[in-house]
Amino acid sequence: MEQLPITTENALIAAAWKGAANAYIPYSHFPVGAAVLGEDGNIYTGCNVENISFGLTNCAERTAIFTMVAAGCKKFTAIAVTVNTPKITPPCGACRQVIAEMATGGDVPVILTNGETVIRETVNSMLPYAYFTLETNG
Ligand code: THU
Repeated sequence: MEQLPITTENALIAAAWKGAANAYIPYSHFPVGAAVLGEDGNIYTGCNVENISFGLTNCAERTAIFTMVAAGCKKFTAIAVTVNTPKITPPCGACRQVIAEMATGGDVPVILTNGETVIRETVNSMLPYAYFTLETNG
């Protein structure tokens, strides 16, 4: 897939902002929202969930993807991430690896926005040479 239809992109971004509203962020005070378009046609949202044991924090992207899987859908065809920083903060490396495995392919759109600017990338451009094994790439 190259460019998402603008209505789909807008729906995903709106869902990601909704996810961000639920962020549990007592330590960073940095709300992140994410939304994935499941292969089943449903949108699944996520937020970051922090913990006093900081390393246990779950990023918004992985929350959205794990929520999708928990609902019975194993792949997504697009992802949007929202942040409130003046300069767009892109997904961390751990999330990029999870994104790479659960996306339907390397050309899946990755939409990043802070409400002012929209960056349109792909799974491949965000993580070239992602780690895959025989199990994950067939
Ligand atoms: N965070 C995300 O939700 N996604 C990322 O890709 C990077 C970081 C969250 C984790 C933590 O709650 C806060 O941002 C500060 O790092």
